[in-house]
Amino acid sequence: MFDINLLPSESHSRVDSYSLNTQTLNLFIKRDDLIHPVISGNKWRKLKYNILYAQRNQVEGIITFGGAYSNHLIATALAAKISQLKCVGIVRGEELSYHSNTILSYCTSLGADLTFVSRKEYALRDETIYKQQLLTTYKNYLIIPEGGRNYHGILGCMEIMKETSNDYDYVCVSQGTSTTSVGILLTIPEKTKLIVCPALKGFDSINEMSQAMLTMGFEKEFVRDKLTQVIVLQTDILGKYGKASRELKNFNTELYDRTKINFDITYNAKSLFMLDDFIKKKSLFEDKILYIHTGGFS
Ligand SMILES: Cc1ncc(COP(=O)(O)O)c(C=O)c1O
Repeated sequence: MFDINLLPSESHSRVDSYSLNTQTLNLFIKRDDLIHPVISGNKWRKLKYNILYAQRNQVEGIITFGGAYSNHLIATALAAKISQLKCVGIVRGEELSYHSNTILSYCTSLGADLTFVSRKEYALRDETIYKQQLLTTYKNYLIIPEGGRNYHGILGCMEIMKETSNDYDYVCVSQGTSTTSVGILLTIPEKTKLIVCPALKGFDSINEMSQAMLTMGFEKEFVRDKLTQVIVLQTDILGKYGKASRELKNFNTELYDRTKINFDITYNAKSLFMLDDFIKKKSLFEDKILYIHTGGFS
């Protein structure tokens, strides 16, 4: 069963102290990347209650969505296999196949049934009619939105801070769909600021986080107040989604030399680059800062 076999190792609760630049800092890294080699970091958090829900409701399988290099797709394929659920992956790009890259071939080897669709069709993924059509083909399946962005995903991410002292001045996390950051925002104390680093150019962090909390049923006033704790650091100056400039690559190499921790370029290295810059600009050398390592590969 999912929650027995995949119980995260204790080591992920580690919060170690690091320095990013030459000055001494109160910087800590929460090692959610150590939860599981594949279902790592926020993937585990976002899938946990979705899979439990699927099991409790005796669904036959999961349908989810992702791009060619989706960390979420591969994590869902494995979580479904371990939980004895079928998995259907709707993949963006009809030009792709199982052989296009190691992520897609690994998903297939795990038994996931991948369907490659046009970008136009993929854009319909959150439309009710499209989802109803999918559920006509795949009866008794549970749809998990792209990136695990739903109520159960947020619920899982609300457990991250419980494993820390939760008394930081700043907590920093990368952002894709905003599910992880919303889970964190809902559980940090008022005095803590949440720094979010969206990986996608043009991502409207505040609006996305607001929508996610309102959909969960929180009052408008509460959502507005909570969002005053958020600081957005845009990462687009570091290059396109999934791409790394030389500067970013060098930063990531230096980061590895200092910490001996691998950080993926798309989300974590970019976010740490922005955090480093923010710390220097604001001279946050006395403040207690927590960085959440969200795992990931590319
Ligand atoms: C490694 C990694 N970090 C961060 C994120 C962004 O998380 P979220 O979509 O919950 O904002 C993702 C995407 O799921 C990811 O794969």
